[in-house]
Amino acid sequence: MRKHIVAGNWKLNKNLAEAQDLARSLTSLLADQPAPNVTVIVGPPAVLLHPVVEATSGGPVQVAAQNCSEHKSGAYTGETAASMIQSVGAGYVILGHSERRQYYGETNATVADKIDRAFEFGLQVIFCCGETLEERKAERHFEVVKTQLIEALGHLSNTDIARVVVAYEPVWAIGTGETASPAQAQEMHAHLRSELAAQFNQDIANATSILYGGSCKAANAQELFACPDIDGGLIGGASLNANDFHAIIQSF
Ligand code: PGA
Repeated sequence: MRKHIVAGNWKLNKNLAEAQDLARSLTSLLADQPAPNVTVIVGPPAVLLHPVVEATSGGPVQVAAQNCSEHKSGAYTGETAASMIQSVGAGYVILGHSERRQYYGETNATVADKIDRAFEFGLQVIFCCGETLEERKAERHFEVVKTQLIEALGHLSNTDIARVVVAYEPVWAIGTGETASPAQAQEMHAHLRSELAAQFNQDIANATSILYGGSCKAANAQELFACPDIDGGLIGGASLNANDFHAIIQSF
């Protein structure tokens, strides 16, 4: 059976005290009401990774960075290396988020390089893909995510692809309050799974967790997670509050 995963993307939110508080509250909610069949991940800003690793230690919550450099080390001011993320105890990195693509010029080729760095240093990858509203209106959404998958993941070995979690995040649903309907999300997740089967093989496609992201919240998580090809969620806004995020974790 595929892993159920609920991952929180805190984006550019929370200071030190707030991040520690959120991490501790979530850990204690999960101690009271555990979710043994769900992998729970939180993604704080890079500067808060280590304190959040400490605040969650001994509990079930895993920690993800929101980005890493495509370079190993060197004269790249402002960047965070995969090795640094690993060294502070975070196990995952979110790569290819649409905000990185939109505001920081990330291309599928850059994302492919970043994925290689992440694997070199033992991180697991949450790879984001998804179409814009214009692309969906032009009925290009299937083709767009297929290209993202081929260009960013196509070079991976069967061993490495097993360490990738795919997150489908339609750009028009991120932070907008507009969620893809369960039918729209399921249709795309099934498409992604068949593309994984075509690029790798059916066993890999069957074993890869595919998360939905984009205005996912407690009120709609249950419906989305009930779809056969939706294995969990990548949650932005609703991951910033421990109770809201815990409710989503309980939605399987
Ligand atoms: P949202 O963000 O849940 O606030 O829409 C999701 C994401 O960008 O990962």
